[in-house]
Amino acid sequence: FNQHSSRLRIATQKSGRLSQESQALFTSCGLKINLREQRLIAHVENMDIDILRVRDDDIPGLVMDGVCDLGIVGENVLEEESLQRQLDNEPCDYDILSRLSFGGCRLSIAVQQEADYQGPTSLAGKTIATTYPRLLNRYLKQQGVQARIVNLKGSVEVAPRAGLADAICDLVSTGATLEANGLREVEVIYRSKAVLIQRKNVSDAAQLKIINTLMPRISAVMQANE
Ligand code: PRP
Ligand code: ZN
Ligand code: MG
Repeated sequence: FNQHSSRLRIATQKSGRLSQESQALFTSCGLKINLREQRLIAHVENMDIDILRVRDDDIPGLVMDGVCDLGIVGENVLEEESLQRQLDNEPCDYDILSRLSFGGCRLSIAVQQEADYQGPTSLAGKTIATTYPRLLNRYLKQQGVQARIVNLKGSVEVAPRAGLADAICDLVSTGATLEANGLREVEVIYRSKAVLIQRKNVSDAAQLKIINTLMPRISAVMQANE
């Protein structure tokens, strides 16, 4: 892993809601990728680009720390990491190069189907499980509601049934996960899509050239998808 290489490093999600479409975007942009599923780094054969396949939660930090040059990530994950880094006084600079036309979802609060819910004040004194504690905390503050936040990295949707929480705050796209777990969506607190981000201070001429080649292609693909 050569820090001084001019190859452009792009961080993408290894598996999950953005991985297929990120992959498809690269292919549509003419990148020939050696697809061996389990590999962390995929070398693009016809351009000086390496694709890093990581957990989505790691993507904002990799770009903010300047370890990767570009990243494709959901705004929800990006915003959560930004809020956390601001609190921790860690670097959280980046530029958004493009808003992408995929990865649409919403971060919502959901309660059990039969629960009484009259609005955000019904959450006062309750316990809410989420993977997005900073975004949830910001929302609760805006609403003037005090609730306890339980931070779970996964299986958030089973928390109410397991007696770990009264409500959840999680991503919803089709709504199938909520439905399957007897949950009812009551508030949308954040709407998200995938974005292409760039680290600050990209100055390498070769890297800038690749980015300038890539951007019009990405715009064209996004327009064709509209
Ligand atoms: C989200 C969320 C739910 C699911 C909801 O997970 O945590 O599990 O998607 O989607 P649905 O409304 O279409 O059922 P995600 O795919 O983002 O994976 P991750 O939480 O592991 O990052
Ligand atoms: Zn994730
Ligand atoms: Mg999930």
